[in-house]
Amino acid sequence: MKLFKSPASYRKWRSSCGGKVVLVPTMGALHHGHEMLLRKARRCAGKQGSVVASIFVNPTQFGAGEDFEAYPRPMGADLAACRRCGVDAVFAPSVGALYARDASVRIRESALGEHLCGPFRPGHFEGVCTVVGMLFLIVQPHAALFGEKDWQQLAILRRMTRDLHFPVDIIGVSTVREPDGLAASSRNAYLTSGERALAPRIHAAMKAGATKKSPDAAATLCRRLIEEIPGATIDYVKAVDAASLEPLASRRSEGRLVVAVRLGKARLIDNIPLPAIR
Ligand code: PAJ
Repeated sequence: MKLFKSPASYRKWRSSCGGKVVLVPTMGALHHGHEMLLRKARRCAGKQGSVVASIFVNPTQFGAGEDFEAYPRPMGADLAACRRCGVDAVFAPSVGALYARDASVRIRESALGEHLCGPFRPGHFEGVCTVVGMLFLIVQPHAALFGEKDWQQLAILRRMTRDLHFPVDIIGVSTVREPDGLAASSRNAYLTSGERALAPRIHAAMKAGATKKSPDAAATLCRRLIEEIPGATIDYVKAVDAASLEPLASRRSEGRLVVAVRLGKARLIDNIPLPAIR
């Protein structure tokens, strides 16, 4: 497995790649959710192709007072995980290798990013789009994999790829959960053991909500159950259209029940399908 720290060294290797190049962008602190993406990427690239994982804690997607400094960076364990999953090359640049000191260009998606996490994390999706755009230009993948865990991020990156004509297939991968239902996340490490024991009730609340026949009833029940979790603060609980992220009018079309909940030091986001009822 190769390790590249600069776009120039990566590019030299890239020009020797024969088959399909498949990218999995990450911020490291890899867990079994990331590993699922890497293994899928391996199958997608095939024997002739190459899997590239990027590991980069992207400063522009963190707001003031967020966890950029505290974000875990276990590089040795991350490289071992990449090796186990059949990654061919890891691209792990420094901040200075991607951003000029006076960098002044950003990519901003202006519709989907206004909803849900947008108002709670100003500038976040602009940082995500900018870095993923850079990664597409540097890594030059044929396809890139993203988790459905971050449903809004996936929708925004599909829109960016379409609108800017990046020649990249965007592949969504379903959410990997712990056995008790909690969505795997690098930020679960911020939970105390007491909070960790409560956190699965978020997924349980979503599943209960999803049994309701109207989007409003689904969100209301889910919200009520999350409010019962000691110490949990809700940023939002919403039933939205799966593609536009607009409020879901009825269950005749495909929806998504999306939540963001703060528990202790962690901000947990999760979502599940609200399949159309016909
Ligand atoms: P990060 O949080 O490290 O996640 C990297 C990828 O793994 C994302 O596509 C995310 O949706 C996916 N992922 C995380 N947890 C998952 C789970 N439990 N099941 C399935 N997929 C999961 O998301 C980012 O990094 C960054 O915003 C990035 C896209 C790399 C841009 O900096």
